[in-house]
Amino acid sequence: MWRPWWATALLLAAAAAAAAQGRTEVGPAVCHPDCNKYGNCGEDGHCRCPFGRIGEACEIDFLAPCRQSPEGDAHCGIVSTKSCECWRRCRDYFCVKTDFGQKCHEFENWDRRPCFHREGLPPDQQHSRFPEPGEKGVKCLEGYFPEAQEVECSEAAVFRNDVTKPLSACPDECNKRGFCMAFKDNALGAHCRCDRGYRGRSCDSLQDNICYKKCSGRGQCIDQFCHCKPPYFSIGCTRSKVYPAKHSRPSPVDFKIYMYELSTQWAYDNVRFAGWQGHDPIYTAYQKFMDRFLDSPVRTEDPSAAHLFFVPSFTYSYSDNGGIANDHLAAVIHHIKHAHPWWNRTGGRDHFFWTPADRGACHLSGEAMDAIKLTHFGSSATPDNHGTMPPYGHRSYGCAHPLRDVVAVPVEPRDAVWLQTTSRMSVDELMAGKKRMFFFAGGVRHQDPEYSGNSRQALRNLTLEWNDPDFEFVEGGVPDYEQRLRSSKFCLAAYGHGWGNRLLQAMLTGCVPVIVQEHVIQHYEDVLPYELFSIRLTNEDLPRLRELLRAVTDEQYRRLLENVLRYHRAFSWAAHAGGQAFEYTILSLRRKYLNLKGLYYGRYSHLTDENCQPWTPEGCKPSTSIS
Ligand SMILES: *[C@@H]1O[C@H](CO)[C@@H](O)[C@H](O)[C@H]1NC(C)=O
Ligand SMILES: *[C@@H]1O[C@H](CO)[C@@H](O)[C@H](O)[C@H]1NC(C)=O
Repeated sequence: MWRPWWATALLLAAAAAAAAQGRTEVGPAVCHPDCNKYGNCGEDGHCRCPFGRIGEACEIDFLAPCRQSPEGDAHCGIVSTKSCECWRRCRDYFCVKTDFGQKCHEFENWDRRPCFHREGLPPDQQHSRFPEPGEKGVKCLEGYFPEAQEVECSEAAVFRNDVTKPLSACPDECNKRGFCMAFKDNALGAHCRCDRGYRGRSCDSLQDNICYKKCSGRGQCIDQFCHCKPPYFSIGCTRSKVYPAKHSRPSPVDFKIYMYELSTQWAYDNVRFAGWQGHDPIYTAYQKFMDRFLDSPVRTEDPSAAHLFFVPSFTYSYSDNGGIANDHLAAVIHHIKHAHPWWNRTGGRDHFFWTPADRGACHLSGEAMDAIKLTHFGSSATPDNHGTMPPYGHRSYGCAHPLRDVVAVPVEPRDAVWLQTTSRMSVDELMAGKKRMFFFAGGVRHQDPEYSGNSRQALRNLTLEWNDPDFEFVEGGVPDYEQRLRSSKFCLAAYGHGWGNRLLQAMLTGCVPVIVQEHVIQHYEDVLPYELFSIRLTNEDLPRLRELLRAVTDEQYRRLLENVLRYHRAFSWAAHAGGQAFEYTILSLRRKYLNLKGLYYGRYSHLTDENCQPWTPEGCKPSTSIS
């Protein structure tokens, strides 16, 4: 009997799905027999593909038109000019239908991006190699929409300040590992902007393996996707087993977390544009967390044994520092809700994901609100209780719920050195090095009180008035920042447009933090004894700051400093230098789990406030209850 090829594929897929339902033993995952050619068999019936590939066996190279040639990485970043077919596919790849309409993972406005089309070539071969001068049969269009007009290719090449150049204009054509680009003012001339993982003038040198856990030595790293040798799968090839449903129960003693296996189409640390190599490191705590989590004993491969569920949403890649990625999160939640039984059991309340942007989870909406957020910004200002900090977020709790959300420490790129230097010193040595009572250096922004809830601004004015060398307040940067912090008794920890990193800087350099952050929950505040190592003040206290700090006795100061040294490891992700941020994040998650089991709080997603939704840059519109 004749069958079309896809009928066989469907039968195989059905067999794999049946195997998933009928699984009675722990064992390797079962998928389409060809899954491992390009992908990893992760969870039964589910072949996890490299970015851009789809299908039961990842057989469809869906974003092929977004590669410059059959080799090289596929990108959907908007900066470099690509083929019209690429933009069309990017839209179809990122936009999905959900119960609440189409969601595009924040990648939306492509249709007016100029692009090029090579006549006579089938869609799959409409690669994104920019037309060479004089190339025949290629036309540039103002967008990929049907009535798009033809434009000059030199015009189509320009996007804001960037110009896409033909590959031949760059050294060795960037070795097929990057786009050839220039700036509009041609300052650098044509230069290669290499694919992630590659460096050099012509993208000829391979950077260190950029995959998590370097694929655990069990697979090949492709961009940031590990192609694992069976039976391994998951991020970093860190899993090998699938469990039958209801295999066990969560232990009342050992705390366990199960991480979802999301396809790269649902969640991936996307390359944002040609030459993109990675996010600003201060936002990458979620990567540090992932790196430790993958082979941590807190992880379980058995979802029925899990207390909490980790959604590896790579939110930052969709939100950047200024956004929130509501569309992305809504799409991911819609997917896990329909594909797995766990979200619905608690309405997502035993699930967690990261929201590392400046304003953390402030502007989150919909069902995502009910999950546990790992965030850096603990604003708890509400319309009924706020100062200079606008009441962003949910009317009842603001941006972070103190009983539910984890305010994790962000990354300080110098943390390893600072921590190691400080850890080597005794309290006596640290005390002997103190040269002044108080120190701060950084931005102030007098015209923007919200920037720091007026704390920096008020203290700037006061220190100018005092003119007291013992209270050093520098507007801007100082070259010997680390030494300045370490040689001061107290250091100001104020926030700055969303979360700040002054608290962790003080802790890591052995300076007692003076925290002035009205309505902001601090990192791991639920599991760290802040009263033992810091001083907490309001803006109102600032005029008396000198008296307050001078009244601290040497004996009291010594105890504070001892505790700074006892707890400062919590403020660093650099595990090799003794940083324990991962351990504290888990500890805090565990505490949140107890709060959940204690029924200390309920659901909030249905209690949205029309004054706060949707978010506007001004925050919530004033409601009648603001006095
Ligand atoms: C979870 O609930 C939604 C309704 O909100 C439903 O459509 C979905 O099928 C449920 N998921 C499962 C796995 O039963
Ligand atoms: C600080 O001083 C400036 C200039 O006098 C003034 O405009 C501003 O309101 C003051 N800020 C605070 C918070 O006191």
